[in-house]
Amino acid sequence: MKRLIFAIAVLIMTAASCCNDADNKNTAREAVLDNIANRKSVRAYTDEPVSDADIETLLRAAMAAPSAMNRQPWEFIVLKDRDSLDLLAGKLRHAKMLQQAPLAIVVCAETMLTLRDGTVVENMFWEHDASAATENLLLAAEAIGLGAVWTAASDPERSAIVKDALGIPGTIMPLCVVPIGHPANPDEQPKDKWKPEKIHYNRW
Ligand SMILES: Cc1cc2nc3c(=O)[nH]c(=O)nc-3n(C[C@H](O)[C@H](O)[C@H](O)COP(=O)(O)O)c2cc1C
Repeated sequence: MKRLIFAIAVLIMTAASCCNDADNKNTAREAVLDNIANRKSVRAYTDEPVSDADIETLLRAAMAAPSAMNRQPWEFIVLKDRDSLDLLAGKLRHAKMLQQAPLAIVVCAETMLTLRDGTVVENMFWEHDASAATENLLLAAEAIGLGAVWTAASDPERSAIVKDALGIPGTIMPLCVVPIGHPANPDEQPKDKWKPEKIHYNRW
């Protein structure tokens, strides 16, 4: 009898632990999908600084991104200093929110690569790689309660401005400047972009 009770208890505990595992998986799944759905461009921030721990979280997420042949050509410039933020705010028409942001991360990448035979060629995937890193960074910002926005810096005019202002060397190019801070309007909602008519099955 004791054995039977023991066996039933083990069964119940096993079933309960399976349920917990399933619940945990569902919770994690929902958390990830909610985070993606809730990400939005945030352009107004409070004065509260972003902690170094949060900055590292953002950079770890960025560097976890995929990249062509795992080359990880990205480089990041962390702007915490008011003068640097204001300097860029003054020069980039579409990134005026830098004036208010306590932090910005400039996502850059090495645009050239050296082949095995020593030939140097353009890395035609640098923008893809740096974009994947940027999206990871934006999602991480959303996940930890920060607000951020991708502002373009890869076109000839803006990249020249950013390279010159920040002393970015040679073949390293900026992709974007991401102002980051604690959202001034925490109730801001994401846009609904679900458009089934954009989907084409099997062929166009
Ligand atoms: C390549 C790229 C360049 C962008 N450049 C700017 C920019 O210069 N300034 C800005 O305020 N937002 C910029 N954005 C943010 C877009 O305006 C924003 O993502 C879009 O309106 C959708 O809104 P959401 O991010 O809230 O979903 C850029 C986004 C991307 C992907």
